[in-house]
Amino acid sequence: MCRYRPGWQGADVSNVREVIRYYRQPGSRLGYRLFLNGTKHFGFYHEKDSPWAWSKALRRMEDRMGETLAQPPGARVLDAGCGVGDVAGRLAGRFGLRIDGVDLLEAHVAQARRRARRRGLDHLLTFSHSDYAALDFPDESFDAVYTMETLVHAADAEAVLRQFHRVLKPGGRLVMFEYGRETAARMPTPAAEAFRQLNDWAAMPSFQRFTYGTLERLTAETGFRVRHVEDVSRSMWPMLRCFAVIGALPYAGFRAAGLQRQFVNTMSAVEFWRHRAFWRYEIHTADK
Ligand SMILES: C[S@@+](CC[C@H](N)C(=O)[O-])C[C@H]1O[C@@H](n2cnc3c(N)ncnc32)[C@H](O)[C@@H]1O
Repeated sequence: MCRYRPGWQGADVSNVREVIRYYRQPGSRLGYRLFLNGTKHFGFYHEKDSPWAWSKALRRMEDRMGETLAQPPGARVLDAGCGVGDVAGRLAGRFGLRIDGVDLLEAHVAQARRRARRRGLDHLLTFSHSDYAALDFPDESFDAVYTMETLVHAADAEAVLRQFHRVLKPGGRLVMFEYGRETAARMPTPAAEAFRQLNDWAAMPSFQRFTYGTLERLTAETGFRVRHVEDVSRSMWPMLRCFAVIGALPYAGFRAAGLQRQFVNTMSAVEFWRHRAFWRYEIHTADK
C-alpha cells in the first residue's frame, strides 16, 4: 500500500493517479526499459562525447548531482521520486551517501531494492513506497534532499517544498534537477499547445506552471536560501536529439492513428526537441 494520505498538511494528491497511470503505460515502460535500462533522467554531455554514449552521459548527470549535493560520505540524503534507484545507487557507490529513496510506484521501489542488492549497496540504500508530498520521516532527518526530474509531476509544489524543508536539518542542502519553461505568451502557438498537451498527458502540472523563475521563487518563499540556478540544457540536448531522431517516424505514424497519448514519450522527444528554445533543464541549489 502506498502511504500517501489525501489532504495531509494541505497536499494536493489529485495528480497521484495520473502519475501512476503514466508510468504504467506500456509505451512509457517500454521506452525507458529499451533505451535507458529503466533509468528516467537525461544524460549530461561534454563537447566531444558521442550523442549515443547514453550510459556514460547518465552516470555523468548523476555525478553532477553528487557534486552539487556536496555532502561527506555517510551523510543521510533523501531521493524524492527515486524511480528504479539508479541515481541513488551511483551516489551511494561513488560518494558514499546513505540514501532513502521514495517513489509512488511499487514496481519502481521493488526494482530499486533489487538493484541495490545486486550492487551490494543495500547497507547504504533504503527504498519505500510513498508520496513525497506526505513524507513519514521525522523533522530534520536529512543532511540533504534531491529531486531528479520529478518535482515537475507535483500537483502542489509548495506543499512538497514544505515537506523538504521540514525533513532537512538546519543548514541542509536541497538540489533539484528540474525543467523550467517560457510563458505561453512568449512562444509560438504550436509550442504552447505542445507543452499544454504533453504536460497534461505525462502528468506534469508543475512543468506547465514552472515558467522561468517560478521554482526559484517558490523555493525562496518556503524559507530556503537559493544559492544558484544553472541552465544546463545544452549539455543534455544530445540525448534529447537522439530520442527525437529515433522517434520522428513512429511519431508521424502515431499521430496519423491518433495514438499520441499512448506513446506520449515519443511525442515528448520530438516536440520538446522541436521547441527546445522555449524550455530549460535547470539545476537548482538551495540551503535551509
Ligand atoms: C522522470 S522519473 C525520475 C526517476 C529518477 N529520479 C531517475 O532520475 O531515474 C520521475 C519519478 O518520480 C516519481 N514520482 C512522481 N511523483 C511522485 C510523488 N508524488 N511521490 C513520489 N514519487 C513520485 C515517479 O513515480 C517516477 O519514478
